[in-house]
Amino acid sequence: MISFGLVAHGGVGSPGELSDGCRAACEAAFRMLEAGKDSLDAAVEAARLLEDDGRFNAGRGSVLRIDGKTIEMDAAVMDSASRIGVVINIRDVKNPVLIARAVIGTPHVALAGRGAEAFARGLGFGPFHDFSGKSATEKSETGADTIGVVALDKAGSFAVATSTGGAAPMMVGRVGDTPMMGCGFYAGPRGAVAVTGLGEESIRKMPAKTVYDMIADDRDAKDACEKGLDLFASGVKMGIIAISRSDWAVAARVTMAHWSMIRKKIK
Ligand code: GLY
Repeated sequence: MISFGLVAHGGVGSPGELSDGCRAACEAAFRMLEAGKDSLDAAVEAARLLEDDGRFNAGRGSVLRIDGKTIEMDAAVMDSASRIGVVINIRDVKNPVLIARAVIGTPHVALAGRGAEAFARGLGFGPFHDFSGKSATEKSETGADTIGVVALDKAGSFAVATSTGGAAPMMVGRVGDTPMMGCGFYAGPRGAVAVTGLGEESIRKMPAKTVYDMIADDRDAKDACEKGLDLFASGVKMGIIAISRSDWAVAARVTMAHWSMIRKKIK
């Protein structure tokens, strides 16, 4: 059985060499969990560090839209208590996941576009323009997609945090699975799941909720994640990470940078 811990990924297709970024994110968040902090805040902190890394398609590393100049980002957080915060197509902020976390403090679940940006400014998150600025084509050559984190804290609460610059190529205004509950992310009393891959495929299959339901049905996390991948045709590149009370898993059809730090319960 797991006492506490987390798993982080750098996007399906991301090369294994980038796992050092996932490791740094996990180490910082693991220290928070070790100190008794909430899984939601630990998952958000790991996601924030992955957004800041610049090599992943999220936050600072977000890809440009098809017009070659626009960056729009999505992020989501959720925990076992159904605290949910989502931002959609937000621009000019450094850390969309922090804004998604802050949405939990409003009467709403999701904020989009200019309203989300105004909300961020009101919280003191100033305009940010220092993106790594890769075109969708350049970025897709490195295979980067969404980042995601799943965590379990000492109190037994699960959380997930996801963040993305989107998938390549994409129109301005396009929204993928990352901010869609049950598709790109899900957390409940039995576990947490994060999905990476082409949003247009994921939205049709709801893999995060499907995998969560299997875990809640006492299936192994590994088995549930593999079954989640089976929802998709063989050529569709998808990745899934999950954590439950008993185990955790990383499943992907191609390379996917990731790291995990897990403290087991002493029997
Ligand atoms: N999975 C990221 C996206 O499709 O936007």
